[in-house]
Formats: sequence, structure tokens, C-alpha cells
Amino acid sequence: MVADAFVRQGAEPDAFRVKEFDLTKLCRYDIVLVGTYTWMNGDIPKQLHGLFEAMEQQDKTLVTGVFGTGDRCFATYCGAVDLFRDMLHAKTILAATLKVEQMPSADDRKRCGAFAESVLMKYSHRKGMLSAANS
Ligand SMILES: Cc1cc2nc3c(=O)[nH]c(=O)nc-3n(C[C@H](O)[C@H](O)[C@H](O)COP(=O)(O)O)c2cc1C
Repeated sequence: MVADAFVRQGAEPDAFRVKEFDLTKLCRYDIVLVGTYTWMNGDIPKQLHGLFEAMEQQDKTLVTGVFGTGDRCFATYCGAVDLFRDMLHAKTILAATLKVEQMPSADDRKRCGAFAESVLMKYSHRKGMLSAANS
């Protein structure tokens, strides 16, 4: 749904399962979005620990976003999204976050559209700042 929202707005996203993604290729992307569920006490699932550490090492000019599913019956709703958000805010240009309860609904399609719009706006703003700095 998130990838579709970016396509609808003219972007060309590549989507990977984290275990199929070569972390050394992160630096090839203009924008990196992380999608995660939350595990146990609001934790990041084990499969995403390597990605979390690799994102911490990225250039401060990388535009990022994080989205994920969770369940409000747990004390730390979408805690993994919050943990990524805090790190990405400190280490990258964090554009937007999105939390979805359980299965995405039709309304969440609209929220994915707003998420994509915020990310792409932040990216075009960053591009403008960089070209002004280089001219
Ligand atoms: C053992 C277990 C622990 C979970 N812990 C949390 C949690 O701490 N916070 C949260 O928001 N969701 C928690 N969840 C909910 C999962 O994140 C949820 O299943 C998922 O976001 C919905 O995606 P799914 O449809 O792929 O299961 C937990 C689920 C399980 C099974």
C-alpha cells in the first residue's frame, strides 16, 4: 500500500524484504523507508536489528520515513516505529511516520497517500537546499 502510494505520486520505489536487502546498497537511495511490525515489549523485531544499525551510519542528508503495524492491546503500541523514529530523527532527515493498527483498512490507503506526500515534499525541499548550497 505504501509502495503504491509512492507510485501514484510519480515516484519509482524499490521494495525489499529486509532479509533480501544488501545493506551496503542503502547509500544508493535518495529516500529510505522502513516498514516494521512490533514485537514483545514494544521492541524492534530481530530481523531488523542490522538495518537499524546500518541506518544509524547513514549520511545526515538521507531522507527517511518509518511505518508499521501494531496492536493497541499491547502496552507499547507500535514501539518499533517509535524506536526507528527517534534514531532516524537524530541521524537522518526524518520526513514522516505512519502507524497502522493490525490489518490496513481502506482509510489507511488515504493515510499512506499523505505519508508519501510528506516524504516527497521533504525530499524536494532537501534537493532545493542542496542545489542552492552548490550554486
Ligand atoms: C508475541 C507478540 C508480541 C507483540 N507485541 C506487540 C507490542 O509490544 N506492541 C504492538 O504494538 N504490537 C505488538 N504485537 C502485534 C504485532 O506487531 C502485530 O501482530 C502486527 O503489527 C500486525 O501485523 P500482522 O498482521 O502481520 O500480525 C505483538 C504480537 C505478538 C504475536
